Amino acid sequence: MKVILFLLFVGFTALAQNTYNLIPLPKELTPAEGQFVIKKSTSIGYSHADFAPVASLLAEHIQHASTFPISAKVSTAATIQFSQNNSLPEEAYTLQVSSKKISIQAKTGKGAFYALQTLLQLMPAQIYAGTQITGAISIPNVNIKDEPRFSYRGLMLDVGRYYFPVESVKRFIDLMAVYKMNTFHWHLTEDQGWRIEIKKYPLLTSISSVRKESMLGHYRDQKYDGKPHGGFYTQEQVKDIVAYATSKYIQVIPEIEMPGHSTAVLAAYPQFGSNGDKILQVKTKWGVAEDVLFPREETFEFLENVLTEVMALFPGQYIHIGGDECPKTQWKESRFCQDLIKKLGLKDEHELQSYFIRRIDKFVTSKGKKLLGWDEILEGGLSPNAMVMSWRGTKGGVEAAKQNHDVVMSPNSYFYLDYYQADPKTEPIAIGGNLTLSKCYSFEPNLPELTAEEAKHVVGIQANVWTEYISNIAYAEYMTYPRALALSEVSWSTKESKNYTDFKKRLTGHLPSMDAMKINYSKAFLSQP
Ligand code: ACM
Repeated sequence: MKVILFLLFVGFTALAQNTYNLIPLPKELTPAEGQFVIKKSTSIGYSHADFAPVASLLAEHIQHASTFPISAKVSTAATIQFSQNNSLPEEAYTLQVSSKKISIQAKTGKGAFYALQTLLQLMPAQIYAGTQITGAISIPNVNIKDEPRFSYRGLMLDVGRYYFPVESVKRFIDLMAVYKMNTFHWHLTEDQGWRIEIKKYPLLTSISSVRKESMLGHYRDQKYDGKPHGGFYTQEQVKDIVAYATSKYIQVIPEIEMPGHSTAVLAAYPQFGSNGDKILQVKTKWGVAEDVLFPREETFEFLENVLTEVMALFPGQYIHIGGDECPKTQWKESRFCQDLIKKLGLKDEHELQSYFIRRIDKFVTSKGKKLLGWDEILEGGLSPNAMVMSWRGTKGGVEAAKQNHDVVMSPNSYFYLDYYQADPKTEPIAIGGNLTLSKCYSFEPNLPELTAEEAKHVVGIQANVWTEYISNIAYAEYMTYPRALALSEVSWSTKESKNYTDFKKRLTGHLPSMDAMKINYSKAFLSQP
């Protein structure tokens, strides 16, 4: 009887067709029959201290999902074994699942962390719920060799338009990690709110972080909610978030906007703008503001002091200084600016903006950091190590790459996640636009305008969550997912493997996992071609 049951069992597993609903798609995946089933006797081992946190994370997931008192230990012969392989690149890993053993190899904890994400995606969806699973925790056999196509895989969250509490920011980071994104661009300052504590300038938090009210409905409606909105992150909270992201192998890039998008600064420190006597309020309207920072010596001193505090909080190499959408009207009308243009031998206000950015660039570079800015910063010449984020399409990015600058492609028509993802009639309010999941997925970073050599400067891609119309994390998730998964796959998986039909099929199969994570994703893609 036992033998018959055994044969039935073997026969059944042999017939079972394994499916692998992985996002992003690994570089090489060889399917296999059968599965590894987690049992009481399953052990988790790691050969190298770098892998200890990742091995422990796996143990935690299994503890929550099972009744097994499993823990991670130093070992070379566990049934789930993490081993070091120095021949692999930093972000690469291999994952072999057979019925007897799971073997993970990586060079560093980072590669092992990505292996863990893949392994979790192969488990029953409920593994993400953190509660006990009814039935076996089984993992389909497979042989995976994986590494990313691009080194920069980013999402931006705008906390200037709406403040997102620390827990919401961590949730945003959590989900990025699941899909192997590695850069969190934190847009911290805006016309409508300054969100980071700067000890030297306390008015930035007491005044600049609060606006009187917020817009309700579309801009054209000109309605307001009548409720003050504010919030900021203390330096301790910033450190906590940076450490949290680092534990998930995500670098955090802070953005401090200049010289435009700075009305909140001017509300507290009007002396850095057109006229020290002008009373300005933190903006309540969305859009591009005419009030901008002036290239005065006092302004540079202020910005350098701010950046000095910011750089001490963010260990990463990049500091984003905005640089976009700076109207020149006030500079045109200002005697001070016109005199400065003459004195510096500049042609016009655009060259004055370049002068502004170049000075900040020099300062940032002198501190051993690298400048990053929106593509407008390209207009006046930059340090060789400055990086450009191309948002007005890809033209700025192409130009930057041709000038030997590294580039992150973040074209608005593909990666502005504040755009509608389906017919506006069926959707909650958004800024406008039309950006379906398939459109996001169709972006190809290897642009025909670039030679192979120039294309090496395209280090990756980023999607941006601007929040004029997004006041909380649940709605942010709705706008971000699943479109961020297109970003994840386009940045990680090979160009040759790109196939929207296959992506959509895997995504559909992966939805139970997203449900278990309680991601408030949009289902619009299911009824779209
Ligand atoms: C931008 O959307 N102004 C970068």
